[in-house]
Amino acid sequence: MTKKIAVLPGDGIGPEIVAEALKVLHALRGFGFKFESEQAAIGGAGYDAAGDPLPEATLRLARQADTVLLGAVGGPKYDTLPRDKRPERGLLRIRKELNLFANLRPALLYPELAAASTLKPEVVAGLDIMIVRELTGDIYFGQPRGIETRGGERVGFNTMVYSESEVRRVAHVAFGIAMKRRKQLCSVEKANVLECSELWKEVVIEVSKEYPEVALSHMYVDNAAMQLVRAPKQFDVIVTGNIFGDILSDEASMLTGSIGMLPSASLDEQNKGMYEPIHGSAPDIAGKGSANPLATILSVAMMLRYTLNEQALAGRIDAAVQQVLAQGYRTGDIYTEGTKKVGTAEMGDAVVAALCK
Ligand code: IPM
Ligand code: MG
Repeated sequence: MTKKIAVLPGDGIGPEIVAEALKVLHALRGFGFKFESEQAAIGGAGYDAAGDPLPEATLRLARQADTVLLGAVGGPKYDTLPRDKRPERGLLRIRKELNLFANLRPALLYPELAAASTLKPEVVAGLDIMIVRELTGDIYFGQPRGIETRGGERVGFNTMVYSESEVRRVAHVAFGIAMKRRKQLCSVEKANVLECSELWKEVVIEVSKEYPEVALSHMYVDNAAMQLVRAPKQFDVIVTGNIFGDILSDEASMLTGSIGMLPSASLDEQNKGMYEPIHGSAPDIAGKGSANPLATILSVAMMLRYTLNEQALAGRIDAAVQQVLAQGYRTGDIYTEGTKKVGTAEMGDAVVAALCK
């Protein structure tokens, strides 16, 4: 059956890296994979096209499609817009509208890139963590929120809030993933201070009863931030709320050498997903053809694995990426002496060549 993929390139380097991911998708046709894709604007591009970071037509396309591939959003040009017109708002809204509550962010170290990590190779060698970040709740969406004047001065406020059902469904996803991996799950919160976290922890413990084989541990977020740089290999799967997951996933990405390598999946209850690289729109290098397309290409692999049920094709992409790294191809962000520095398109071509060999 032909799969319909909504492609939302976004801003900055988004269009460049998405173009490389599309090359890879086209190459998969050679293995019998049938898809059609349609593009739509999101983020700053959405604002430019329709005065809205998530234009109606884009949301409609995303809803109709089997799955969504996203580049990145944001740029200095849009920083002064009113908050609800900013590119980030488009991203947050599409996550919420599509109910993409489970965000899977792997931090995997490719042996070839051990030297690109700022941590000692022995600390990161063999690193393979999966962060499951709740994506549609928490302080990101909690009400009340705002900036108002109280007692003659301005006060900014947001609300951290989780319902049991929100915690439960993401906990199930995390336990399910742990079952397919090393069966260790660490739930990260701040239950020593926050009631919201206290409830989080209680619900995770309840859910754990259904997964007796998974070893569940709990860690406060400050300690988790420290442990990630001290001894990251102690982690298998981490499950955490939206804001803690935002921060910890950036930290975890750096253990692997480059944020330019890491894909992500955002899933709803039916595993219909939106796939995007973890990194942002990198306006400083946009249009230069130097961005690393591998995170986006690896996002396609996750798409095949989690939504389209094409495990073998996903494996082929993973293997092709591994191969180009072994061949020494590097974009600027992962370049080390003695390797071959290439641009965005050359990297995409190298992956396609490895795939079709
Ligand atoms: C991310 C990003 C977004 C977030 C921003 C761009 C709104 O940092 O996907 O991690 O905070 O979720
Ligand atoms: Mg982030």
